[in-house]
Amino acid sequence: MNSESQPVSSLTIRERASGALNTFLGWFGYAFIRVVKSDYVPIRLYEHERLSFAYEDVKCDDVLAPWILDQAFQEIHNRIENHTLVDLFRCYELTQLVREVTHVPGDILEVGVWRGGTGVLLADAARKWKPQAHVWLCDTFAGVVKATSRDSQYTGGEHADTSEDIVRTLALAEGLDNITLLKGVFPDDTGAEISASQIALCHIDVDVYQSAAEIVAWVAPRLAPGAIMVFDDYGFSSCRGITQLVDELRETGEWIYIYNLNKHAILIKR
Ligand SMILES: C[S@@+](CC[C@H](N)C(=O)[O-])C[C@H]1O[C@@H](n2cnc3c(N)ncnc32)[C@H](O)[C@@H]1O
Repeated sequence: MNSESQPVSSLTIRERASGALNTFLGWFGYAFIRVVKSDYVPIRLYEHERLSFAYEDVKCDDVLAPWILDQAFQEIHNRIENHTLVDLFRCYELTQLVREVTHVPGDILEVGVWRGGTGVLLADAARKWKPQAHVWLCDTFAGVVKATSRDSQYTGGEHADTSEDIVRTLALAEGLDNITLLKGVFPDDTGAEISASQIALCHIDVDVYQSAAEIVAWVAPRLAPGAIMVFDDYGFSSCRGITQLVDELRETGEWIYIYNLNKHAILIKR
């Protein structure tokens, strides 16, 4: 029920007063909104492993939102959103990164699949924009591994509440036949099972420094110029290990680095 259809008697004096004020302001094309100051924590600073991290609640007004007009994306996103921990904005960006590597040689690799949401989005995008590419989805299906003191929150074993069957069923429902699921620690157990000699796009969503660093060590020699590594968790205060790793990679000068506030870091091979 919206406020217009509420019985007048159920409105408080404050609600009636603000409604009247908004009606008045509306005649001149204005409205007032109440800002709750106590909820706003402007800046948070952390020290971790002798590194400093700053976090701020950033509000972006009037943002171009192409996902709203993208009917096909909206439909598949509705079907997979209960299978992902990744928000709409990063989900959309993943699909668009597949478009960006259409002409870059190689397959698509995701490490950190959980219940398959982002993996299925990548495979669906590949079917449209990179049909010759195979999509490799790798997970322990037993949770996060290799957490160390570099990681601010994870200790190991998180996100074990999934299975290969859950992902396989989701992929089947979408009619995807371009996926191979690999179970085990990547790259230790499953790297050798990937037959592709080149990777065009690698989505790294493993939450902790050491796992991500070993994935990068495996994938980097397989990337042609223009190939992309996209890191989930870059900027989460709960995943400072990922932020540290990406910032270290940036220092090497081998990558074009993009940070666009959605908690993805994108590294493009120069
Ligand atoms: C945050 S979840 C992935 C979320 C997923 N992309 C989604 O759409 O919601 C992180 C996953 O990484 C997996 N993982 C972490 N380190 C790994 C490694 N070295 N090899 C394979 N899987 C790993 C965990 O088992 C967990 O399922």
